[in-house]
Amino acid sequence: MIDIRAATPDDFLAIAELDRRAWLQNRRGEFIPDGEHVWRCWCQCAITLVATDGTGVVGAAVAFPCIDGRYMVHKIFVDRDRRGRGIGGRLLGSLLERLDQRRATAFLTVDPVNAAALALYERHGFCEREFVKGYYRPDEDRFVLTRPAFQE
Ligand SMILES: CC(C)(COP(=O)(O)OP(=O)(O)OC[C@H]1O[C@@H](n2cnc3c(N)ncnc32)[C@H](O)[C@@H]1OP(=O)(O)O)[C@@H](O)C(=O)NCCC(=O)NCCS
Repeated sequence: MIDIRAATPDDFLAIAELDRRAWLQNRRGEFIPDGEHVWRCWCQCAITLVATDGTGVVGAAVAFPCIDGRYMVHKIFVDRDRRGRGIGGRLLGSLLERLDQRRATAFLTVDPVNAAALALYERHGFCEREFVKGYYRPDEDRFVLTRPAFQE
């Protein structure tokens, strides 16, 4: 049974540990994990959600406000052995509910070859897409996807 809840500072080490494992199959995955100190900060100061089961943290997602008023969905990841069961969808849905309550525009970046992530984002309303060549290193391009603010 998977539970989705807001992270607390007690979760930061488990999230950081999963972050170090979750990207190993992604291109340049060795550069993607964030450090424990920033996870400690995000668990307290950002919108950070965790998916847990009886074994502990099996997925996480984080979004935070930027100086232009938009929110960046910085990361979402699920334990490799638990993918394809809707956990990523539930994490993102719950994160976006919180952003909709704030009437916030959300954006994120994604590797153009990351089909699973692209499918997830498009299904959740990230309808604007910009291709940015060399977003990180010269050979690391990105799509910047935007989800307009919720309108009643
Ligand atoms: C992206 C990720 C978070 C999705 O988590 P998940 O728990 O597997 O997600 P879900 O089970 O909710 O599935 C999400 C959607 O992707 C689809 N999907 C899964 N693998 C796919 C693939 N290889 N190609 C296309 N679509 C795919 C699923 O069918 C599902 O769509 P649906 O609900 O319309 O059927 C997970 O794959 C992951 O952690 N990847 C590594 C980290 C990463 O790349 N994060 C995103 C960085 S931008």
